[in-house]
Amino acid sequence: MAKVKTYYVCRQCGAMQPKWLGKCPDCDSWDTLEQMTQASADPHRPRALAEADGDGATPSARQEEGPRPVGQIPEFQTPRIPSGMSEFDRVLGGGVVPGSAILLGGNPGIGKSTLLLQAGDRMARRGLSVLYVTSEESAGQTKLRARRLGVGHENLLIYAECNLEKISRQIRKLRPHLCIVDSVQMIYQPDNPSPPGSLSQLKDCGTDLVYLAKAGGTAVCLVGHVTKQGVLAGPKLLEHVVDTVLYFEGDTHHDHRLVRCVKNRHGNTLEVGLFRMGQAGLEPVEDASALLVEPHGDSPGGSVITAALHGSRVLAVEVQALTAESMLGAARRKVSGCDANRVAMIIAVLEKRTGLRLVDKDVFVNVVGGLKVSDPAADAAIALAIAGAHTRRGLSSRTLVVGELGLLGELRQIGSLAQRLGEAVRLGYQRILTPAPRSSADKAAVAEAGRSLIIFPCRAVDEAIQLLA
Ligand code: TYD
Ligand code: MG
Repeated sequence: MAKVKTYYVCRQCGAMQPKWLGKCPDCDSWDTLEQMTQASADPHRPRALAEADGDGATPSARQEEGPRPVGQIPEFQTPRIPSGMSEFDRVLGGGVVPGSAILLGGNPGIGKSTLLLQAGDRMARRGLSVLYVTSEESAGQTKLRARRLGVGHENLLIYAECNLEKISRQIRKLRPHLCIVDSVQMIYQPDNPSPPGSLSQLKDCGTDLVYLAKAGGTAVCLVGHVTKQGVLAGPKLLEHVVDTVLYFEGDTHHDHRLVRCVKNRHGNTLEVGLFRMGQAGLEPVEDASALLVEPHGDSPGGSVITAALHGSRVLAVEVQALTAESMLGAARRKVSGCDANRVAMIIAVLEKRTGLRLVDKDVFVNVVGGLKVSDPAADAAIALAIAGAHTRRGLSSRTLVVGELGLLGELRQIGSLAQRLGEAVRLGYQRILTPAPRSSADKAAVAEAGRSLIIFPCRAVDEAIQLLA
């Protein structure tokens, strides 16, 4: 009889422990260890792979060849299957890679099922076979959605099932190009006594599906739910086994949605795709800057537009700030859309290097449109928005601000300056504040853009603040 092995896995970081502990020694979080059992002759061997063996094309069969020098390994081609939805293909790095595993996370109601049903239908129309496993909704509910979206090609098969064994059997039988599992938290491995959605089930179902994908050349796309903190529920575990991790973001109060790539073994991470949710589903938005920045006249202070890098693309985004008299002992700093620690640093630099007194002021910073900006080139815009809100002085309209802020108050060089200048010219901005260019490439880019824009090269944040009028 197979030996039953018990171990514990951290819900937060996925680390395995032989014994239960109150605190995870790897990530220091409390009460996150969950018991898992594994009963199999070889506990490291996923079931799906064991069953799929014998067709010669499995990874295990290939591994039999033994170690080889890098030069003798045949080149791995990643032919991609474009879904035909431009923005979805962009985040994936050009399309779906056969045999790869994609995990798509997002809040309930954000549009995960809508996106995948549309992408699946687009692929079906291109002559590819797609299996859409709906484990959350009935086939009838999916049909209603399909009718609303106007999709339903005959190569797109809908299968309402939660049992992993039945799903695996269908994948092996149909060998579709793409299998969508919506959602992975609802499916279960019948041999496993844990309830669906538990770590143990997620690990079993996730790894089985991923190995099935690798063995049979079917790309799988798993839908995962996120926790209140916005990370995928449980599955740091799953994030490790899949090739690509996408997060669906956005504000359900706005109609635009963002798909952000946080891990991609086959392409660029940090890539974002933009969509607009309309009456007939999601439409790709090609000109995102126009969607995110509403043109308005001279700002009264507190609003600055920057060009931030998202993956390989530069987007114009508006940073807004407000300062208010603090009624409490400790002034509040509330930030949405950018890193709160970065904003705290910028406030400290403004206090120390420009003499603005913010210690007794509540400071609020918001990036308009629900976008999250992590590009340090937005620092200068955040600083000018806060300084402008505080002094009630603004920049003239059609001005863009880029630059990273150093602790000495200096404006530091930023990457992709030429691309940002190009976007400023394309969107019809008239003035741009940048760090003084140092490299010859940056100087050339500034000289080139100088023909259509007025450029204000600044060395320090106090110099930049002089431009507020
Ligand atoms: P859904 O794809 O069901 O979200 P998820 O799978 O992430 O839970 O999206 C549901 C929301 O999208 C719902 O609030 C209705 C809205 N919606 C539209 O606005 N237009 C449409 O064409 C569709 C199908 C949904
Ligand atoms: Mg759904």
